[in-house]
Amino acid sequence: LDNGMLKTPPMGWMAWERFRCDIDCKDDPQNCIGEKLFRDMADRLVEDGWKELGYEYVMIDDCWTSMQRDEQGRLQPDPSRFPGGIAKLARYIHDRGLKLGIYADIGSHTCMRYPGTPLDKIVIDAQTFASWGVDYLKFDGCYSNPIEHMLGYPLMSKALNATGRPIGYSCSWPAYEGGLPPNVNYSLLGEICHLWRNYDDIQDSWDSVQDIIGWFANNQDDLQPAAGPGRWNDPDMLIIGNFGLSVHQARSQMALWAIMAAPLIMSNDLRNLDNSARAILQNKMAITINQDPLGIQGRRLLQEKSRIEVFWRPLSNSASSLVFLSHRTDMPYLYHTSLAKLQYEPGNYEVYDVFTSSTVKGLNATTVFTVSINPTGVVMWYIYPRKQSRQQVERLRHQQ
Ligand code: DGJ
Repeated sequence: LDNGMLKTPPMGWMAWERFRCDIDCKDDPQNCIGEKLFRDMADRLVEDGWKELGYEYVMIDDCWTSMQRDEQGRLQPDPSRFPGGIAKLARYIHDRGLKLGIYADIGSHTCMRYPGTPLDKIVIDAQTFASWGVDYLKFDGCYSNPIEHMLGYPLMSKALNATGRPIGYSCSWPAYEGGLPPNVNYSLLGEICHLWRNYDDIQDSWDSVQDIIGWFANNQDDLQPAAGPGRWNDPDMLIIGNFGLSVHQARSQMALWAIMAAPLIMSNDLRNLDNSARAILQNKMAITINQDPLGIQGRRLLQEKSRIEVFWRPLSNSASSLVFLSHRTDMPYLYHTSLAKLQYEPGNYEVYDVFTSSTVKGLNATTVFTVSINPTGVVMWYIYPRKQSRQQVERLRHQQ
């Protein structure tokens, strides 16, 4: 959606993958879906260096409302879990320089059977969210049919726009229609939504991450052209810092999400993160690659018989990124290639290794090099044309 918002993929935190529909504030007050959880995460984003890296959204997911709308027909938060109301929570979040995301569902009910936002409630809900100071809406698609999607997703886009408040708009529409043309119209989505969920929900496992990466790469001819500034594919939340990924798998998720120009929306417990998860999620070069202003989504270039895959994303200033991903489960694999084999133009390049911070100066496109890729891990490179020294420029000039 080309209205000046989300020119780069959104970054922040969302409750769902890690905290689900935990509404048990009596026995689990630290983790239940309630205002304290969102205030805690806002505090962590500000105090632990996330905000200055770009992680700015705090996003509520399902299970935040009462079972009934109020007398005026408006959605209302569960009063025991959000006693201060959403407007007050929004103020808390804005006071810290952050933004608030909220969740609704286009059907009769949300996926967890809370009140939905069917067609006749779209305008009032958009107005309610805007009046509370909400900055982002995830619009889910449970308990509804394709006709309601076709009418409702564009209608919500209009209704949000009509509030006059800039509100990021995330549509789950394609995920409920199989994610691919002809059932999904990506040019229409790009006109009405800033981002969209294409595929299945992420779970806390490498299996799930691998399945998502595979689906996006197998369907890249349909998906990759759909992305650009203000319109992003969303392979779902980052699960780094939870229970399911090894350190190397966590790097793989970060690398692939960066190269896919995916939203960097963490769903983890920012109050309890180990140092390796923090370092991966706060890796400046990975974030820079993800947030590149050209906004071109990367592609899988190669799928080798050795179960190594190579991904590539063009970046601004003639730079680019390469990710070498291993699906092997035996030992570090020595992969031999050259930039020329990966379709780079002749010339000299410099390389920065995103996760080891080592550099290679003066790599000629034709030179064969070797990367060692750990099982289920990645090597991620940021590559740029070699800056020529003054002597080299002089020499070139004399040759002409
Ligand atoms: C399905 C969505 O895809 C998930 O991300 C989450 O929002 C759940 N619904 C909530 O019920």
